[in-house]
Amino acid sequence: MFESHRKETIVRKRYAAGAKERADKLCCPVDYDGDLLKVIPREVIDRDYGCGDPSRYLREGEVVVDLGSGTGKICFIAAQIVGAKGKIIGVDMTDEMLEVARRNAPIVAERTGFANVEFRKGRIQDLALDLELLDRQLKAHPIMDAASFLAADELAEELRLKHPLIASDSIDVVVSNCVLNLVEPKSKRQLFDEIFRILKKGGRAVICDIVSDEEVPEEMRNDPELWSGCISGALTEDGFLAAFENAGFYGIQILQRATQPWRTVQGIEFRPVTIEAFKGKQGECFERNQAVIYRGPFKEVLDDDNHRMERGKRYAVCDKTYNLYRKAPYAEHFEFVDPLVDVALDEAKPFDCSRTALRHPKETKGQDYDVTTGANKCCDGGSCC
Ligand SMILES: C[S@@+](CC[C@H](N)C(=O)[O-])C[C@H]1O[C@@H](n2cnc3c(N)ncnc32)[C@H](O)[C@@H]1O
Repeated sequence: MFESHRKETIVRKRYAAGAKERADKLCCPVDYDGDLLKVIPREVIDRDYGCGDPSRYLREGEVVVDLGSGTGKICFIAAQIVGAKGKIIGVDMTDEMLEVARRNAPIVAERTGFANVEFRKGRIQDLALDLELLDRQLKAHPIMDAASFLAADELAEELRLKHPLIASDSIDVVVSNCVLNLVEPKSKRQLFDEIFRILKKGGRAVICDIVSDEEVPEEMRNDPELWSGCISGALTEDGFLAAFENAGFYGIQILQRATQPWRTVQGIEFRPVTIEAFKGKQGECFERNQAVIYRGPFKEVLDDDNHRMERGKRYAVCDKTYNLYRKAPYAEHFEFVDPLVDVALDEAKPFDCSRTALRHPKETKGQDYDVTTGANKCCDGGSCC
């Protein structure tokens, strides 16, 4: 039995060993794009401890953070997808993993023709604290007694504020491959808050991780082998999605879910899933007389701001919701109805987003609208009837 406060040390030791020599028990086979693996040295590919491939959801030019980047495989694949205009930052807390990743980065850069990957040392639940900066400061001011221990705590806080490892609102996409489950339970909430903090408004998280189909019992949580082996720290399938919701994300969806479990322990199934979640629903609501119509196929939907909409009906929405719906992951599910006369944003009145209201077509067109027209060419340039 190991005590819960030692979980992180055990994880660090296990992955320090896994950086030096391939650990088969930590591997969950993943199908990566073979073309993108060609420039990546063998030792990086061999020491792959992922359970999915979040890089396939990235786009050219994006700035990406990979949480728990290990020997750097996802970073090196992602680097080729975002290209020279994009940037990849891998974060890991284990020196041995960082050593392999950093040693291989120039080799990959030479083969691709551009250097857009860097690796930083930090804990993913505390993405403001640069552990190498802290290391340097502590060498100059070692902890000798209780007073210097408390001073070190203050120093860490100062570093978070003045020299954050990852700045707030600075990242387009946060990816991670099989790491979030390794973060100790008391820090899980903070972990999701940190992912939210570093993303730009409009940014997204694409996270592959192991989830369980049932709650993991206490005795399994206290098994160091199962914990560090990406098993017993897993959140449940619905708990994983709820964690994103609680941190303020919207448009959360399962992009991939393995039908077969990776492992089953005491009847509990553990399988990889890939989740996407967006940042950007926070902000003020203004009335610009816009409306949306949910296209179906479900009879009704409920979004992350509690707007409940029935299929086919025209709903009043604020300018913020209107613009969120016009983008992924919502756009394809809605029709958009602009008012006949635009309301300028700087003249728009506040909109009460706490209730869902239908919007009468007369509100869209104006109460006095009584135009009669001839037939329009509405059917792909042909006649309507
Ligand atoms: C299962 S491996 C996954 C590595 C990599 N993502 C891959 O696909 O091969 C977990 C990695 O996360 C790192 N890690 C675990 N907990 C961490 C934490 N709290 N903060 C930073 N890194 C962590 C470990 O050092 C290890 O490199």
